[in-house]
Amino acid sequence: MLRRLFALVLLGFTVALAQTPHTHEHRFSGAERWARVFDDPARDRWQKPDDVIAALALAPDATVADIGAGTGYFAVRLARAVPKGRVYAVDIEPDMVRYLGERAQREQLANLQPVRGKPDDPQLPAPVDRVLIVDTYHHIGERVAYFGRLRERLKPGGAVAIVDFTLESPVGPPRSARVAADVVRAEMQRAGYALAAQHDFLPHQYFLVFRPR
Ligand SMILES: C[S@@+](CC[C@H](N)C(=O)[O-])C[C@H]1O[C@@H](n2cnc3c(N)ncnc32)[C@H](O)[C@@H]1O
Repeated sequence: MLRRLFALVLLGFTVALAQTPHTHEHRFSGAERWARVFDDPARDRWQKPDDVIAALALAPDATVADIGAGTGYFAVRLARAVPKGRVYAVDIEPDMVRYLGERAQREQLANLQPVRGKPDDPQLPAPVDRVLIVDTYHHIGERVAYFGRLRERLKPGGAVAIVDFTLESPVGPPRSARVAADVVRAEMQRAGYALAAQHDFLPHQYFLVFRPR
């Protein structure tokens, strides 16, 4: 019974993402509807948010950017992980930015700051120690230029962590929209980064950490 329920939840997530046109700027409008998908508690079983955040080794006063923050699934957890720091929850979709602001207030997270990014620039208000990008790398165009510029917004010792769906995953966007881990490694190399860590504990996604070379 539980396994069937889990399979249905995975299917729902897949279908919701698969129905998303990948070219339209406002494809993620309707934040409340997306919250039912992104913040579904069943996601925790395979997304392992606490393990992902532990792997980022954040100091309590770290500044973190969650690029493509969506409805805040990671951003709110990051904000709790850096009680003396700051989290910039970046999204290009105005309705997500609105939702993130309301969620930060509702959950009394004064250190969670929503930021309206541009497709080619996250518009970070200040340099950061860590960037986390979950299920969003494949939405970004001109990635080598984007991440090349992002290097300039990293503090000394800073790192960029990329989590996205593998080509084999039963969950996620249509296969044609995914970016393989090998391609991410090659693009990040061209953008001026070296692979610093690779974590293999997520069943459906790769988790790669890069530092500027
Ligand atoms: C699949 S959702 C992932 C949300 C969140 N990271 C999570 O794991 O629940 C992708 C999000 O990235 C946003 N997005 C797409 N392109 C972006 C870009 N260039 N910069 C910032 N956000 C972007 C979308 O509006 C959407 O909210």
